[in-house]
Amino acid sequence: MKFFIDTADVAEIRDLAATGLVDGVTTNPSLIAKSGRKFLDVVQEICSIVPGPISAEVAATDYKTMLAEGHKLAKLAKNVTVKVPLTPDGLKTCKALSSEGTMVNVTLCFSAAQAILAAKAGASFISPFVGRLDDIGSDGMILIRDICAIYKQYPAFKTEVLVASVRHPIHIVESAKMGAHVATMPPNVLRQMFQHPLTDKGLAAFLADWKKTGQSILEG
Ligand code: G3P
Repeated sequence: MKFFIDTADVAEIRDLAATGLVDGVTTNPSLIAKSGRKFLDVVQEICSIVPGPISAEVAATDYKTMLAEGHKLAKLAKNVTVKVPLTPDGLKTCKALSSEGTMVNVTLCFSAAQAILAAKAGASFISPFVGRLDDIGSDGMILIRDICAIYKQYPAFKTEVLVASVRHPIHIVESAKMGAHVATMPPNVLRQMFQHPLTDKGLAAFLADWKKTGQSILEG
């Protein structure tokens, strides 16, 4: 399973990329606004930090302008993945960019029917938003299970399931059990994944016992 980080904060990206566990980054207009930086500059910088796919979202809603924006974004770096919304014009843009060899991430997916359309449009990634479904009293994980099951029926579909709007590590664990290809998570969720109180407790006990031995591995 690939791990993407869902942020436009380059300090966070640099910090987490150093773990060696980050395979890509996703951004969206809200995250860019939060960064307070120029969109094209921040995308270019992220592309130089992480070599994997970096999602940069178009801002237009009509095909012609989305395509022009997609071309401009794709020129920023080889690893740019153009992100388009799941609308008829978005999927038309997806089809055009994908056939030119540009990676496309189709975002704002809330149904299996939408995910089928994205796969048919040649998307590299489909982004179902699990947290936002949970927020309205639905179960986001059912959508992931359905999309994974459908895509498995059609080996010709090359679209990867990119679990988005992740709120906590259980979303990641459940997605992994279902065979989702990628999860994009806010930095705090990746940090939470490391944590377990028994790990902290066990390490403290080992360190205390090691101190009693009076030994040093490097100087022994
Ligand atoms: O980038 C798409 C997605 O991950 C957004 O998540 O937390 O705004 O629902 P969220």
